[in-house]
Formats: sequence, C-alpha cells, structure tokens
Amino acid sequence: MPLVNSLKMFEQAYKNGYAIGAFNVNNMEIVQGITEACKEENAPVILQVSKGARAYANHTYLVKLVEAAVIECPNIPIVLHLDHGPDFETCKACIDGGFTSVMIDGSALPFEENIAVTKKVVEYAHAHKPYVTVEGELGTLAGIEDEVSHAVGSYTRPEEVEEFVRRTGVDSLAIAIGTSHGAYKFKPEQCTRNADGVLVPPPLRFDILKEVAKRLPNFPIVLHGSSSVPQNYVAMVNAHGGKMPDAVGVPEEQLREAAKLPVCKINIDSDLRLAMTGTIREFFDEHPEKFDPREYLKPARANIKELVRHKLRDVLGCAGKADECR
Ligand code: G3H
Ligand code: 13P
Ligand code: ZN
Repeated sequence: MPLVNSLKMFEQAYKNGYAIGAFNVNNMEIVQGITEACKEENAPVILQVSKGARAYANHTYLVKLVEAAVIECPNIPIVLHLDHGPDFETCKACIDGGFTSVMIDGSALPFEENIAVTKKVVEYAHAHKPYVTVEGELGTLAGIEDEVSHAVGSYTRPEEVEEFVRRTGVDSLAIAIGTSHGAYKFKPEQCTRNADGVLVPPPLRFDILKEVAKRLPNFPIVLHGSSSVPQNYVAMVNAHGGKMPDAVGVPEEQLREAAKLPVCKINIDSDLRLAMTGTIREFFDEHPEKFDPREYLKPARANIKELVRHKLRDVLGCAGKADECR
C-alpha cells in the first residue's frame, strides 16, 4: 500500500487504547531496522524525519529510503512525517516533496504566533491532495542533545488546548508533561536511586494529560521525548569507551500507561541511537582489526530491530494492529 497520513492510525489507536511508534530515521540501516520489525510484528508505523535528518541525509535520499520500505513492507501502513518542522517553508517543502504528515513546532513562540503559523501550515496541508495531516505543539520540552530542545521546558497549560485546536484545525497535539529530548531527561537531583545505583526519575504529569484529554474528547495526543534510555545499552556504551554517566529516560511502564490513554503517537529516537552506538562501540572494542562498515552496521541494524520489536509489543501495544489501520 502507498504511504498514508495518520488519520486512520490515530482513530484506531484512540479507540483501542494503544499508541503508534514514531521513530526517527537518518539512514538506511535505521529505516530497515524499524520497518523489518514492523513487518514481523504486523504493526503500523510513523517514520519521522527532523530538520537535522534532512540536512544530514538529504530530503530525496530519505524519501526514497522510505519508499523502498513501502515496497518491502506492502501490508504495513507507513506514515512519512516531518518531525519538529521549524517554519511554514520547511513544512511546505515536505508536503510538496512527498511527506504524508508534518509537525509544525511553534511551541517556543507566543500563543498567538504559534496559532498563526500552525493555522497557515494546516490550511496548506489540508488543501493538498491527498490530505496531509498536521501535528501542533503546546508547551515546551527541555533537553540538551538535539536542535529542537530548549534549555528550560514548560508544561502544557490545559486551559489553552481547546482554543489552540479549534483555531488551528490541527489533527493531533503534542503536549509537555515532563518528558524531554535526549538521553539525560532528568537531572540526578530530580531522581532517587535504586539498589543498583540506577536513577529512578519522577513520574510524568498524568494529571495534565488527563485534563487535556477531558477537554479534547476523541482527539489524538502526542508525546515527544519518550525514549526510555535502556540501561543495558548505556552500560554497553560505557563499557566500550563511551562516557554517558547518569543517562536516564522515561520508564516504560509510564509510556504503556500513556498509550492506553489518548496518547496515540509516541516519539522515540534516542533509544535507537543508543542501540546503534553501543553495538558499534562493542564491535570495535572486540574487533579492532575490522574496517568494513557492513560488518559493524549489520549488528547495529539487528539491535535496532530487536529494540523496536520490544517497543511495539511491550510498550506501545500496536503489534498486530496493521490490518485495522489500513
Ligand atoms: O526530537 C528530536 C529528534 O530526536 C531529532 O533530533 O534534531 O538531532 O535530528 P535531531
Ligand atoms: P527522544 O530523544 O526521547 O528519543 O525523543 C525523540 C523525539 O521526541 C523526536 O521528536
Ligand atoms: Zn520531539
């Protein structure tokens, strides 16, 4: 089947209490790892591309890699989504260039300016044939590792969401309830430590999520910054020359809980980066004489695939849901 927008996926995810995984893609091995997992698990998926990914890999290469995945996985609904679109022009370039969904991230702007730019993107995207879905954002995520994070975050104000959705016409809304981008989501002083010395973060603000959900019935909510920063990969990185002390993510039980609520899209990037980097570091440590990229990218791709399978089955709940999302 051709690329799809997110309408049907979110309708089913909302109704049936699961979430669609939105995984960031930057190269062929990442696209393959994710989509091979989805094919085996019969799961719908959102492949998302950031401004940084477009700068790194080039728009055309990424679109063609995703189109290759569509051919290889004919029964899996796949959305090609712009992650954190910074302005109208970038969104327009992606809509014109084959994306089926875009995010316009006006979350750092004053409320009225966020509404204005989001509405402009929605008008363009919805007039496109076929209809392109749009995600907006209210509230900002803190974080330090990518181009889209702010030094300080601020929770979404539930009293603003109805007006934002009504005036912009967005198809989904990203909210800030305590997640953040990257592998250091919580400062050690915000956490406690378990018996193994691993940081245990404070809970997400489910009270805000529930209040937003009450104000926006039947409306899909999106969670960014939802990597769990698996401690086995942090340990693998650190055991093989890396230095990521106190890296900590969102506990998977909390994401599982969110997926049962109106959260229909859960964004995961850092976990894939960790799986890839840990695997490659280990490989080089164990095989210092090797230099064929295929030899170290192959296990990295395999571990991305295993990680994604685990997310689909055990966290998001969307394994086996491809058919109802078609
Ligand atoms: O939300 C941000 C994603 O992890 C993308 O990060 O801007 O480094 O590509 P990036
Ligand atoms: P993570 O850094 O938690 O993987 O978040 C990814 C994300 O939100 C992409 O938009
Ligand atoms: Zn994000």
